Amino acid sequence: MVNICKSFHGVHANKDINLQVNSGEILGLLGENGAGKTTLMNILYGLYQPDYGKILINGKPIKITNPVESINHGIGMVHQHFMLVQNHSVIENIALGYKDTPFFFPKIKIRERVKEFSRQFDFRMDLDQKVWQLSAGEQQRVEIIKALLNGADLLILDEPTSVLTPQEIQELIDILRRMKADGHSMIFISHKLDEIMDICDRVTVLQKGQIVGEADTADTDKKGLARMMVGRDVVFNIDKEKMDKGDQVLSVQDIHVTGDKGLPAVKGVSFNLYKNEIFGIAGVAGNGQRELAEAITGIRKIDTGRVMVKDQEITNMSPRKIYDYGVSHVPEERIRFGIAPGLFLYDNAILKQHHLKKFSKRYFLKYGQVKNHAKTIISDFRVSTHSINNQIRNLSGGNIQKLILGREISEQPELLVASHPTYGLDVGATEFLREHLLALRKQGSTVLLFSEDLEEIFELCDRVAVIFDGEFMGILDADDDRLCDIGMMMAGSKRIKDDTPANNQV
Ligand SMILES: Nc1ncnc2c1ncn2[C@@H]1O[C@H](COP(=O)(O)OP(=O)(O)OP(=O)(O)O)[C@@H](O)[C@H]1O
Ligand SMILES: [Mg+2]
Repeated sequence: MVNICKSFHGVHANKDINLQVNSGEILGLLGENGAGKTTLMNILYGLYQPDYGKILINGKPIKITNPVESINHGIGMVHQHFMLVQNHSVIENIALGYKDTPFFFPKIKIRERVKEFSRQFDFRMDLDQKVWQLSAGEQQRVEIIKALLNGADLLILDEPTSVLTPQEIQELIDILRRMKADGHSMIFISHKLDEIMDICDRVTVLQKGQIVGEADTADTDKKGLARMMVGRDVVFNIDKEKMDKGDQVLSVQDIHVTGDKGLPAVKGVSFNLYKNEIFGIAGVAGNGQRELAEAITGIRKIDTGRVMVKDQEITNMSPRKIYDYGVSHVPEERIRFGIAPGLFLYDNAILKQHHLKKFSKRYFLKYGQVKNHAKTIISDFRVSTHSINNQIRNLSGGNIQKLILGREISEQPELLVASHPTYGLDVGATEFLREHLLALRKQGSTVLLFSEDLEEIFELCDRVAVIFDGEFMGILDADDDRLCDIGMMMAGSKRIKDDTPANNQV
């Protein structure tokens, strides 16, 4: 890509970018949220037209005006947010984007080709499942196989790992290695610097739409990459101040919850949370975390058991009532459930809060106050946008995440239920968010943190519960030596009985 420029509303998303990928190479593309990574890749994939600049393949200038042309030139893309049709099966989704669908027996022939690829790259995939039944990692594999099937020599992966579990990430990395050995080139976007160091040959760093650094991964380290991205040193380990926990805030008593597939997902979970504490729930995705978070916040029905906020029972109340009792929620699939994409940024800044007195009077919203509130979130949480009169769908992925976090946290909730709050955030924003959660704890809030990132759990939490197959394998203080067995607890092969009085149920 040579001298690529692209601006939106007069703001440069890409400026004078020169980017080169050699065959059989994995290039890492790094940069803060809003730096212009997705925009640049959308240009290469033909979704956007550059204002200026050209694209060359094997030295020959080419014009790409839509994705069909880029596919014909051997370029494939796995997008930042999944693009699959949820109600269709895997094979139907693959057939949908396939460029040479045969006229006779299309399903049988495509099925044969998919099987061939699965064998070659050691993919496991059930072709007849509906997409909504798949985990994030499985959906990711479908996206990759779609691109490979179309003959992608260059595969663009826009944050492919941000919603994957650690095991799924490892599987994906193994697949990418095999593809590289097979001669494919890749552009890999990620905020996780360990992964970049692990898999990329070279990196290019963007900042505010411009290239600010390039390096071979062999010549740099995580700290060096972070410095290039943010322009300063980033703290990878925050010091947590010791705090005594206060009064009881939440009590979850023997709750049972059913999952999407009609099977029990949470099976008799009990715990109490206290003021001034961060309580982590660790576990491999799909062990009941999502259902537990949704049950507490009123999105999913509780079959039996009770949830209390202080002396108030909130079992099966509406999400808004529960919010009014002081419980905020940062959901797992924020882009799908946390925003209204077509609305302006300021409307999105008060979703669920529009009925509060400070934002509305009778049937009318007080737009002055709403806009000021949005401006405060934007500046506190460093959301990068050219204006608050912008549809939220125009923001970069990470900046949408920041806005939702800001909305849920800015009101100083009594209890914050946060599912993977750092998904999609750049290193600087992650550092800021973690410090903010610790500040909330200090000011008297309670945080219930769902995370698969054990580093994050140990850095932030006072106590940790390990969940497996809908049950707690134990609740321990974060400095308890027995947590060295956390891997076995997460795999369900070890259960530790609670012995602290605080964990014993009433
Ligand atoms: N269609 C659009 N209309 C208006 N502005 C846009 C549009 N697409 C992107 N932008 C702006 O361009 C800038 C770069 O966005 P981009 O999505 O490329 O960032 P990114 O580096 O991928 O960030 P992230 O890490 O958060 O995904 C942002 O300021 C964004 O608001
Ligand atoms: Mg992006």
